[in-house]
Amino acid sequence: MNIDLAVVPVAGRGTRLLPLTKSQPKEMLPVGRKPVVQYVVEELARCGMKRILFVTGPGKTAIENHFDIDAELITYLRESGKEEYLAHLSFEREDIEYFYVRQRRQLGLGHAVLCARRFVNGQCFVVALGDSILGLHERSRIVEVMIERFNATAAAAVINFEEVATEEIGEYGVALPKQQNAEVFELLDIVEKPDPERAPSNLAVAGRYVFSPVIFDALTETPLGKGGEIQLTDAIRQLIREGRKVIGVRMPPNERRYDIGHFESYFRAVVEFALADEQLGHRLRRYFGVEITNTPMK
Ligand code: G1P
Repeated sequence: MNIDLAVVPVAGRGTRLLPLTKSQPKEMLPVGRKPVVQYVVEELARCGMKRILFVTGPGKTAIENHFDIDAELITYLRESGKEEYLAHLSFEREDIEYFYVRQRRQLGLGHAVLCARRFVNGQCFVVALGDSILGLHERSRIVEVMIERFNATAAAAVINFEEVATEEIGEYGVALPKQQNAEVFELLDIVEKPDPERAPSNLAVAGRYVFSPVIFDALTETPLGKGGEIQLTDAIRQLIREGRKVIGVRMPPNERRYDIGHFESYFRAVVEFALADEQLGHRLRRYFGVEITNTPMK
């Protein structure tokens, strides 16, 4: 089945990044030379997505503006002899159609995905969190791999996971895998933000999902969970309890996930991307006296 539709929730308030996010969306924060959400869109385009539905909320119009084609800016750059900057706008020409729906009440990630139901209209689709960058060492193709797994296993959901340190596990949805240490595994359970001592594993949801539309039925029945919100994780758990197949895919060892949801991981991303910058990275590395061996992401 060809899946070319991605839902990108960007409605969260970014509370953990205040005051940075008081009047700008966390998805528009700079990492390297781009705002976070541009990496997400470029990754989705590479993985074959042709339609992106953003689930937005208050204060998020900068995201819509960013993906508009800015003819005035293009003309200005041409007419003022600044053609060299035009290359930085090439993302505007990605072969993608953009759509927007508002989450009118802040009821959490599960509710944000539910807002896409009418638009998705019975198709299988990808969910990519707008605050998570995948890659750096490699240009991530994990969504492609996840779609392959989804089609091969007739699963109701495929989710990517990254192993994280025990002290971080309470920030994420966490898998109970059937096969330990496997790259692809079946989920026996999934728990949203568990107490680290009780976490079923160190495998944290890393921001990409492929869903069959049955997720919407599960979401409709999902009661308020952690933080008084409708949790996507709880709806996935419901699918597992109904006996549906839910598959986990581990992030490849050469790939990282940069979670721009809180300061420590945001700072990590900012530093790593700056040090890996194609033009200025070597000077920064000399300035800070550090070595890195990775190939920067374009
Ligand atoms: C959300 C999900 C969580 C997932 C995380 C990934 O949490 O609820 O299961 O692991 O995204 O970033 P949030 O970061 O919105 O609190």
